[in-house]
Amino acid sequence: MTDPGPDPGPDCGPPAAWHRNAGRCVLLDGFHALKHALRFGAEVPVAVTSDRAGALALADELAPDVREVLAGLLTEVSREAYASLVARPHPTAVAALAVRPSRAAGLEALARTPRRAPVVVLDQPRNLGNAGAVIRLAAGFGATGVVTTGTLDPWHPTVVRGGAGLHFATVVERLEVAGLPPGPLFALDPEGEDIRGLELPDDALLAFGSERSGLTPELRARADRLVALPMRPQVSSYNLATSVAMTLYHWSAGGGAPRVP
Ligand SMILES: C[S@@+](CC[C@H](N)C(=O)[O-])C[C@H]1O[C@@H](n2cnc3c(N)ncnc32)[C@H](O)[C@@H]1O
Repeated sequence: MTDPGPDPGPDCGPPAAWHRNAGRCVLLDGFHALKHALRFGAEVPVAVTSDRAGALALADELAPDVREVLAGLLTEVSREAYASLVARPHPTAVAALAVRPSRAAGLEALARTPRRAPVVVLDQPRNLGNAGAVIRLAAGFGATGVVTTGTLDPWHPTVVRGGAGLHFATVVERLEVAGLPPGPLFALDPEGEDIRGLELPDDALLAFGSERSGLTPELRARADRLVALPMRPQVSSYNLATSVAMTLYHWSAGGGAPRVP
């Protein structure tokens, strides 16, 4: 007989725990998002799967470091109960809720100096998938955080899905341009100076404009330098997330990012 996981006790099975926690939590959709969130210290009050044996086999293969934590957390529920908790079932049939970190702690981390890695600023981004991809990049490069200006919620479920659970590996906050953390601001724009002639300091703010209209006048006014990525004349611009990738890579080539083991 397969182990069904933690006993939820009377009247407090996983769906009840799920609904009790949903307001203060974000959805971790799928095994990989849960794995990442646990690795980076997320508080996970409830995790369910309709295939506990399959999820633990994945853990054995891909995440032995969090296997025991997963075994303690994952409760098996019916396929129907799992499907009722998520908008679209994930191929790994795993879903969990993670407590959203406090804004006060995030703001403190962003303001802390000296800073050992840049903060990425997305100036009025529009595309939720791009924002998620940027958070994943920031986590991979060990950036201090990702700040968005404008109306997009960087903790929107679609952004969290795109970030693969890596919101918990960096700081993610929304701020006004006037409230950006201290540090020299390098704003990426095709009209700027060639990035290849520049060293990006560890305490930099690296700012990127929106997909549709580029950098706002407020952001340009706060910028210390406008910086361009190499691009042939007849190409108008790169995608936002790929621009962030190239810029973080350029910073890392100066020696600041985590070493490849
Ligand atoms: C899709 S582009 C914005 C295009 C927009 N139509 C415009 O008017 O700028 C999104 C952002 O990526 C960055 N970006 C794209 N291509 C770039 C390049 N060649 N050099 C520097 N930044 C670039 C900029 O920050 C830009 O605001």
